[in-house]
Amino acid sequence: MHAQLAADFERFKRELPRDFPAHVRQSYRIDLSARYLGETIPHPIGKGSGQLSLNQGQLEVDAEGGLGFAVLKTVIAQDAGGAQSMAAWAIHESKMRVERRGGGWTVTWKGRGWDRSFDEYLALARAGGDLTRAGRLLVVPSVKYHLPRLDEAFKDAEYAFTTRALATAWGEPLLLLEKDFSPTLAGDALAGEQAQILRWLREVAGHIRAQAAVRLAVKVMNARFDDDFQVEMVRASSAADVLVVFNRLFDLKRGIAYGGPELTARNLRVLDRLGPGLPELSGTGGISSGRDILEYARRGCESVQAHTFFQLPLEEYTATDGSRTQRALHQLVFHPADGLIAGLLDLETQGTLERRGGELHFLDLAADAHRPR
Ligand SMILES: Cc1cc2nc3c(=O)[nH]c(=O)nc-3n(C[C@H](O)[C@H](O)[C@H](O)COP(=O)(O)O)c2cc1C
Repeated sequence: MHAQLAADFERFKRELPRDFPAHVRQSYRIDLSARYLGETIPHPIGKGSGQLSLNQGQLEVDAEGGLGFAVLKTVIAQDAGGAQSMAAWAIHESKMRVERRGGGWTVTWKGRGWDRSFDEYLALARAGGDLTRAGRLLVVPSVKYHLPRLDEAFKDAEYAFTTRALATAWGEPLLLLEKDFSPTLAGDALAGEQAQILRWLREVAGHIRAQAAVRLAVKVMNARFDDDFQVEMVRASSAADVLVVFNRLFDLKRGIAYGGPELTARNLRVLDRLGPGLPELSGTGGISSGRDILEYARRGCESVQAHTFFQLPLEEYTATDGSRTQRALHQLVFHPADGLIAGLLDLETQGTLERRGGELHFLDLAADAHRPR
C-alpha cells in the first residue's frame, strides 16, 4: 500500500480526481467520511471562515476541487435599520501577508468581518444553500452577533433580523450556521473579563435559536487566559450543536491574530483535557499535514477547518497543476509520509485503529476519543 501511495502522490500531482475519496476507499479500503454540523461529508477537510470564501467564484473552484466543506467569511449582524453594534469589525483592510512563525506558517492580517453590503452576503449565502442542496459542496454562513457587557442585554433586534434573513436566503431544510468568536475579539477590552465571556458562551445559542430553526456551530476563540479557563469556556458552550476548536491566538503587542505551531499546541493541549459528553467537534488551527488532522481527530474532532494551508506560496505544494484547493488536498491526503492515508495506515499498524468490515474508518478515531477514559 505504501508503494501505491507513493505512485498516487506522484500521479495526482498534475490532477487530483474530484472524487478522490472513492479512489481511497477502493484502493486502500479506507473510508474517509467525516461529519460537519451533523452532515456527512466525503472527507474531513474544510476551509475555515475567512478571505478564501468571499465570493461565488471561490466556492465554485472549491466544489470542483472536491473540498469537504466551506465556511463563508464572517458577516457582522445588523438590525432591520442596518445598525450594527459590532460595526468596528466590519472594516476593510486589504493587506494580507503569509509569513513563517514558530517553524510553521501564519497569515498576518488586521482585517475583520465582511465589509460589503448585507444584501451581497445574502446572495452568497443563497448560492451556498444551492451548492449544499446540489450535493456539490457543504457551505455554511458565519456571523458575529452583538455581545453585551455584563450589565447589558443582548440586542435581539440584530439577532432577529440577521438570523431570519440568512435562514430565508440559505433555504431548506434548515439553516446551518457558524457563530464566530474571533481572536480580535479576544484582544478587545470587551473580553477582559472571564464572567463576561462565559455568559456569552452560555447564552448566545439561545438568542440565535429563538429567531429561526438552525443547526449551530460556535467557533470558540482562544481567550487570553490559561488552559483551565479555556476548558471552562468549552463547558459553557454546550448549547451549540458543534464547537469549532479553537480560533487563532491574539498577539497583544502587535495587535494581530496569529496561528502556526503555537496555536496547534495550545489547541491540542486543551482538547486533551476534555472529557466525554461534548457536542460534535471541528478542529481548526495550524493544520498543515494529514498527521495534524489525525491529532485533532484522535481528540474527538470529526472534521477540520484549515485556512493558512490553503494560502501558501505555490512552491510549497508538491502538486504542479490544479487550483490551490486541489494542491493542498493532494498534500494533506496523499503525502506518502505525512498525509492522511499514510497516518491512518500507521495507526492501524500500531493497533490504534482497527478495520471494520475490512475498512478503516476515519470517524472511528473521534468515536474512540469520546468514550470515557
Ligand atoms: C486572513 C484570515 C481571515 C480570517 N477571517 C476569519 C473570519 O472572518 N471568521 C472566522 O471565524 N475565522 C476567520 N479566520 C480564522 C480561520 O478560519 C481559521 O480558523 C484560523 O486561521 C486557524 O486555522 P489556520 O491555522 O489553518 O489558518 C481567518 C483567518 C485568516 C488567516
